[in-house]
Amino acid sequence: MKKEAEKKEKNIPTRVVSGMRPSGKLHLGHFHGVLENWLELQKKHECFFFVADWHALTTEYEDPSKVPENTLEMVLDWLSVGIDPVKSVIFTQSGVKEHAELYVLLSMLTPLGWLERNPTYKEQLVELKNRDVRTYGFLGYPVLQTADIIVYQAGMVPVGIDQAPHIELSREIVRRFNHLYGEVFPEPKTLLTEAKKVLGTDGRKMSKSYDNSIYLSDTPEVIEKKMRTMVTDTARQRKTDPGNPEKCPFFETFHKLYSDESTIEWVHEVCTTGAVGCIECKQRVIPKVLETLEPIQKKRAELEKDKASVMETLKKDTERARIVARETMEKVRSVMSLG
Ligand code: TRP
Ligand code: SF4
Repeated sequence: MKKEAEKKEKNIPTRVVSGMRPSGKLHLGHFHGVLENWLELQKKHECFFFVADWHALTTEYEDPSKVPENTLEMVLDWLSVGIDPVKSVIFTQSGVKEHAELYVLLSMLTPLGWLERNPTYKEQLVELKNRDVRTYGFLGYPVLQTADIIVYQAGMVPVGIDQAPHIELSREIVRRFNHLYGEVFPEPKTLLTEAKKVLGTDGRKMSKSYDNSIYLSDTPEVIEKKMRTMVTDTARQRKTDPGNPEKCPFFETFHKLYSDESTIEWVHEVCTTGAVGCIECKQRVIPKVLETLEPIQKKRAELEKDKASVMETLKKDTERARIVARETMEKVRSVMSLG
């Protein structure tokens, strides 16, 4: 706490750490749900953003062959939207071995009960039926996540609500560590990312596994087609049937995220009276979406031409991350009486 106060006095911004599992090309759900938030944080804070490739292995250990490609695709998207490898540190978790060392040490003092009680663990055991996740690594997922965060002495972790229990666990582990060995780590705070409703073409939450996603790297033609065929209020069978925007997944996502107030008013008017069809309503916002994505796609096309230099950037930033991580580990070894 004292440290926080000092920081405020000196106006040192809090360090931010966040990771994403390498899921390949990112979709609009990632963009509006996570990346826009990272872009804001990058303006004010020192940010460490990493590809959680070890975490991916907790579920992909049987076939890890896609991980490198998924890492590159995801990083291409990060850079395309404007995550800046000069301002922020962008790297892969597996490139900084210190995460693993700290993970081992933290595992010594983390009670099993804390992990077994973890709600995401219990959920996933039920949900991931097609994979055997009754592994030691999967149970220890939040311990590794804790190491990821505190190895950089981060003060703030931007995550969605689903990850909040993990950060809570991190705080408990930190308290236990500090109690045993002295005040080494600040307690990381959860910076809850506002849950934006981004629905996919079938009206369910946009998700790669539902095959309903619009990807940042889809061509404008594909994006337009996906938007035109996206489900709307089912009450609107014919063009003249009145509808309700609040029951329309297309409206929920695209008009709410991209349209100005007067367009939204117009939609309410024409939808509820059945004055215009869905295609015309959609056409009002499709160009806005394409316009927003255009510079991102341009940047991606450029980066794709030189993937080697993207890999080089990752490598360089991995070294930047290691400098901080090494320093932390020296301190940790010392307080734990290790050489
Ligand atoms: N568990 C996170 C997820 O699935 C990814 C992650 C790994 C992470 N380590 C982290 C997020 C550290 C924040 C901080 O989304
Ligand atoms: Fe949705 Fe617009 Fe169709 Fe109404 S008119 S159902 S808001 S797409």
